[in-house]
Amino acid sequence: MTRATLGRLIAAMLGLTVVISVVMLQIDWNGTAGSTEADDVDLLLDVMIVLSAFVYSIVLVMLGYSIWRYRAKPGDESDGEPIHGNTKLEIAWTLIPTVIVLFGAAYSWVILDKIEARESDRMEVDVTAQQFAWKFEYPDANVTSTELHVPVDRQVAFSMQAIDVIHSFWVPEWRVKKDLVPGLTTHVVATPDREGSYSLICTELCGIGHSTMRAPVVVESQDDFDAWLAKMQKAQGGQQQAGGGAVEEPAEEAQAGEAIFNEQGCSGCHTLAAAGSTADIGPHLDEVLPDRSAAEIKQSIIDPDAELSPGFGAGIMPQEFGDSLSDEELDTLVKYLMSSVQGGK
Ligand code: CUA
Repeated sequence: MTRATLGRLIAAMLGLTVVISVVMLQIDWNGTAGSTEADDVDLLLDVMIVLSAFVYSIVLVMLGYSIWRYRAKPGDESDGEPIHGNTKLEIAWTLIPTVIVLFGAAYSWVILDKIEARESDRMEVDVTAQQFAWKFEYPDANVTSTELHVPVDRQVAFSMQAIDVIHSFWVPEWRVKKDLVPGLTTHVVATPDREGSYSLICTELCGIGHSTMRAPVVVESQDDFDAWLAKMQKAQGGQQQAGGGAVEEPAEEAQAGEAIFNEQGCSGCHTLAAAGSTADIGPHLDEVLPDRSAAEIKQSIIDPDAELSPGFGAGIMPQEFGDSLSDEELDTLVKYLMSSVQGGK
């Protein structure tokens, strides 16, 4: 191969790199960006696309050149020349990928370091995942919610725990993603910079309800967020007081029952008209509960496999509600379910 040929091949590789890169960068791979981290992650992806286009161009150009230049003439059935390798070529094809990979690793490190840095004014939120629901706690305000509300333009630090199996935290518009592992507390930060409604999606296959394991995410102004938090605080403060009192108003008791139903993730799997839930991983409670006694309902919560509804297999419903709920909570939940379906005997 002459120097001129090599020059033309390299020019073809660079030209093809530009063409492929331009086409690939037109595509909006990640969708709407909704956090400051997203901008860094998207830039990293763009750089990786250009590097990949370069490697792909080298392969395509050399493949095309070899097919064209070294194609056997019709009727030529002789063997190829015996060759003993080419030291310069081998050094080149070792060095170039090494440099590319090291650059990619170093640049990713820089981005990761940047997006994981903690801001001093960050807000803390505790996240709990279990089959198949999310729960969010705002420790400073002592508020628990099944919706994730966060103020815009402020870093949020999530401390996350899984109760049963591995789940994964992902809001596509924020780009960051992190697993929740039973027995560990994992951490992830995000700085939402775009107001709106999004979805938190579980991205670790965690059981039969995995695809429904989502939670609403609301990014709002600091004022709206403060108002929401104050409203939640008021509602839940009232509930705690009611729980401690000797006599409960029926309405408050129902509210407490519904809160348990949502917080424990029941609403993630069961349809119950009174709670507004529409999931169908487990039996529709409006259909199966009306002819159950309180004792039967209680048994189904703490030992779900003892008696299965037709069409539902064993081991689908979490087995640990007997441990995670206090006797009082269990009673409140059973009463709530009985009153919700109105037919319990
Ligand atoms: Cu939780 Cu998938």
